[in-house]
Amino acid sequence: MTGVPDLRIGIVGYGTMGRAHSYGYRVAPIVSSLPMRPIVKVISGRDEAGVAAAASAYGAEGWTIDWRDLVARADVDMVDICTPPGTHAEIAEAAAAAGKAVLSEKPLGTSYAQAHAAWTAISRAGVRNAIGFNYRRVPAVALMHRMIADGTIGDVRLWRAIWLSDEFTDPATAFDWRFDRAIGGTTIADLGSHLIDMALWMVGPIEEVSAQSETFIRTRPSAHGDQPVTIDDASSALLRFTGGARGTIEMARLAVRRPCDFSVEVNGTRGTLVFDYPRMNELLYGDAGDAPGLYGMRRIRAEHPSHPYATLGWPIGQGIGYGETFVNQAVDLVNAWPSGAWTPNFTDGLAVQAVCDTMERSADEKRWVSVSEITKDPGI
Ligand SMILES: NC(=O)c1ccc[n+]([C@@H]2O[C@H](COP(=O)([O-])OP(=O)(O)OC[C@H]3O[C@@H](n4cnc5c(N)ncnc54)[C@H](O)[C@@H]3O)[C@@H](O)[C@H]2O)c1
Repeated sequence: MTGVPDLRIGIVGYGTMGRAHSYGYRVAPIVSSLPMRPIVKVISGRDEAGVAAAASAYGAEGWTIDWRDLVARADVDMVDICTPPGTHAEIAEAAAAAGKAVLSEKPLGTSYAQAHAAWTAISRAGVRNAIGFNYRRVPAVALMHRMIADGTIGDVRLWRAIWLSDEFTDPATAFDWRFDRAIGGTTIADLGSHLIDMALWMVGPIEEVSAQSETFIRTRPSAHGDQPVTIDDASSALLRFTGGARGTIEMARLAVRRPCDFSVEVNGTRGTLVFDYPRMNELLYGDAGDAPGLYGMRRIRAEHPSHPYATLGWPIGQGIGYGETFVNQAVDLVNAWPSGAWTPNFTDGLAVQAVCDTMERSADEKRWVSVSEITKDPGI
């Protein structure tokens, strides 16, 4: 890419998301003519050999073992936070103080108080901010949102979603940050935050929830002996939306042979939409206006040029995968630089965190809890 300025990015964390975001920035200029060239100037991680190898593999210009150095660099315009949830707020606050734009992976924090502190910091500093709810950028999910927003299925009555993974099924799986509430947050916040974001985006605010949680495997092995697990490994909830719709949500990391399966369904007064992640290029649509002889659901191929993000993908029929969600995210962020709107942003992340905390409190106290019980006191 010649003739366009660089958007200089520093990525904090070189694990799965550091890799996915790097991939997004590398591919974005290949699929879209961008006003700027996203370039990863530096990537940080705690292990010197690991971060050096990642920088080389991901195509980052440099690396550091101290994220504070990355944040302080004059040649970094945007700090991209790809570390565990309990670290997001502190890094976002430092980046905001340095006047950098911030993209944070989800969830914004491990508590509403933490998320609120991050949101306050970026709001006071007036820096651009975004949160990595990348599944909004699956074309079929974006199409589902558009069809709800344009009234295709009428008024939403019911919304439901599940997220099933088997990553914690084996009791021999070693303790790491994902089992530690202080650094990893709950399964509600980890898996559920994506679904809650979709709920708020598609249907609107949630008023109150009634949740349950369970931790089936209470300790995990580590080099220092068995460690207590401080998170839920399965949770579910009933949801009442402010607008009157009702919903259900479930997230579990103990669902045998379910790798990362999520599905979202919405029932409106005139139609139904169903998205099922293993068939991510498709959206099912049931239309009450169809002739009785056509009773059933249409399988829309969400790859037509008229569909969201379709022109960034391959020719119709080829489909896309998980990686494209990060490409689409990079395209959206770069296209909106320096003054267009970034969505979803920290305000969205904070709203999601409020629902996560509401679910956690409801499960702890075994009662319906209003989201306002969480938001009225950020706890800071
Ligand atoms: N949007 C998505 O699809 C998606 C998928 C997976 C994870 N995530 C989110 O991305 C973030 C990072 O997850 P990941 O899967 O890339 O994690 P990971 O374990 O693969 O990588 C974590 C990175 O953070 C660094 N790090 C800094 N402080 C750490 C600490 N105290 N403990 C452990 N590692 C620390 C590690 O060195 C590593 O580079 C999390 O917030 C997670 O919820 C999002």
